[in-house]
Amino acid sequence: MRILVTAGPTREFIDSVRFISNPSSGRMGFEVACAAEKFGHRVVLISGPVELAAPEGIEFVKVISAQDMARECLSRFPGCDAVVMTAAVCDYKPVNRESGKIKKTPGRLRLDLVRTVDILARMGMQKENQVLVGFALEVGDGRENALAKLASKNLDFIVLNSPQTFASETISCWIFGRGGGSKEYRNVTKGFLAEEIVKMIESVADGGS
Ligand code: CTP
Repeated sequence: MRILVTAGPTREFIDSVRFISNPSSGRMGFEVACAAEKFGHRVVLISGPVELAAPEGIEFVKVISAQDMARECLSRFPGCDAVVMTAAVCDYKPVNRESGKIKKTPGRLRLDLVRTVDILARMGMQKENQVLVGFALEVGDGRENALAKLASKNLDFIVLNSPQTFASETISCWIFGRGGGSKEYRNVTKGFLAEEIVKMIESVADGGS
């Protein structure tokens, strides 16, 4: 199979030296890409800025903003069999990127933000036979939100996890499938979860549930 994986944060620039972002390390996506490659799939890994080295034997595309990530993902999507979207894509970006550095002035500064493209939702709309896996980052009990994202983005699986995952070596999560199945993972390594995700994709592509 040809599997597209995204990883890391995006950066949305306010001016030449400042940006909006989040602490995603990219590790989960890199693990999924490596697991898919190990299982014999052709992988393209599209990553926002992270401190990880490009994995060997995998097509690696570096991006900065949500718009860059959308362009690289959507152009490849028709040629893919599966997508695992671990990237922590910024939902908002500044309306304008100021040139130079914004100088401070007395009083408040307001930032005017607009929505970025929801890449996964767009792929959900365009989907033919591709298997789509999303990651829902939720604070507290996010089960309902995760299930809503599974349906609204037309996904096959959603991995529900929490912000503790950002800096951690391990992950605790639930995976929900579109057929109603679910499985809980507690404190497993990201490498282990990555292999589980690839196996789930393979089972759906083989006609399983
Ligand atoms: N996602 C995306 N494009 C965006 C935002 C999110 O493709 N602009 C993807 C993420 O990579 C993830 C899934 O959508 O796989 C869910 O992301 P999440 O941040 O949990 O939810 P959002 O849809 O952004 O909704 P909210 O932030 O309101 O919870």
